[in-house]
Amino acid sequence: MTLPIAVGVSGRGTNLQALIDAIRSGRLDARIVFVASSRKSTPALERAVTAGIPCRAFPPAANGGREAAQTLMAATIIGEGAELVVLAGYDRVLCDAFFARIGDVPVINIHPSLLPAFGKLNGTAVHEAVLASGASKTGATVHRAHAGMLDEGEIVVQRALPVLPGDTVETLSARVLAVEHEILVEAVARFSELARPSARTPA
Ligand code: GRF
Repeated sequence: MTLPIAVGVSGRGTNLQALIDAIRSGRLDARIVFVASSRKSTPALERAVTAGIPCRAFPPAANGGREAAQTLMAATIIGEGAELVVLAGYDRVLCDAFFARIGDVPVINIHPSLLPAFGKLNGTAVHEAVLASGASKTGATVHRAHAGMLDEGEIVVQRALPVLPGDTVETLSARVLAVEHEILVEAVARFSELARPSARTPA
């Protein structure tokens, strides 16, 4: 069965684009049924519109505050029939009410480090911290997201890459981002594989 997924975004949306491209090329058996943004007028929303995917922004200020906005977002995702929620650069902590409404639908998130190292940091702060620490490797992680946890759920896919002499935040983040695009597709493929009827049939 082609897995119906929803994608949560906030900014430029290159991870969303990686999913769109993988589906289009036949590398990923999934269908993006909805894109939810925490912000209005993001490049990620434009990517969804260009791809013809239903999408909507849920800014807290225009939706009765954070909890009401996220509850509405979860209800909309369920209403669109998603069976997996992929947080791809979604920049807000999801509240308990979101998880209560989303129920049994799994939620995964992508983070640009080798979790648990350098969790609970955002954007370039992750790569600045890696460089400041003198670590010889970094990477990217796709993990399950649960209520009350931040960058702490079970790891779905993780991939390491070396920190090179002379790396800057810009060079490192670009290499990590390329890895993110690969492992996010791999992670969704794992859920898609589990959704196949044959994968559910006991041997
Ligand atoms: C990625 O680095 C992701 O790991 C982090 O936010 C960034 C989003 O990038 N959570 P994009 O919007 O997918 O280009």
